[in-house]
Amino acid sequence: MERIISPSILAADFGDLKSECEMINRSDARWVHIDVMDGVFVPNISFGFPVIEAVRRHCTKLMDVHIMIVNPEKYVRRFAEAGARMLTFHYEATADPAVVIRLIRAEGIKVGITINPDVPVDKLRPFIADVDMVLLMTVFAGYGGQKFIPESFERLRALAGMRDELNPSCMIQVDGGVGASNASQLYECGANVLVAGSSVFNAADPPAMIRQLLDA
Ligand code: DX5
Ligand code: ZN
Repeated sequence: MERIISPSILAADFGDLKSECEMINRSDARWVHIDVMDGVFVPNISFGFPVIEAVRRHCTKLMDVHIMIVNPEKYVRRFAEAGARMLTFHYEATADPAVVIRLIRAEGIKVGITINPDVPVDKLRPFIADVDMVLLMTVFAGYGGQKFIPESFERLRALAGMRDELNPSCMIQVDGGVGASNASQLYECGANVLVAGSSVFNAADPPAMIRQLLDA
């Protein structure tokens, strides 16, 4: 499956978002990862629609929006209108993931489902055939710059096995503490989309780091 890097703008300089977007445009990143946190599903609050719309104005890459919010069904349309082309919601944040999947599909955009590190990957089994991507969180959602949880490799292998069995074209994304030290092992275990926040934006040469993650 094609490798994709999705730099997370949560780690960008929001005072200079346009330049950060232009850096992503120049790079080999195919997507841009946008983390929306509501202060309820996760303890942190990040940003909302005005920032997403600003990224849309300046960034030419596919908008990969990761919503860490309760009641995701309420906002599917707003995120689609704001420019999301992949919309990933948390399994834990809704009473009925199948409804959210249907709502996202109805917008004509790609749908992703995600789980935190404390949720068994088996919980995704009923939904995997109906999504374009599964995001396996490799830290607890809520903050950038956390340390990668090593047990994630095992979870990733299990998830990839389930994917091969039930929906071979389903992409697998990993998010949290991803960088040069674990990228190649993540690919080996079955991920094809790497989200990278601090490792990219704190690098001396961010486009070179994106290239390095792609070639890992
Ligand atoms: C965490 C977010 C991540 C975050 C990753 O809740 O979902 O996308 O930006 O940041 P790093 O790559 O710094 O761990
Ligand atoms: Zn994210």
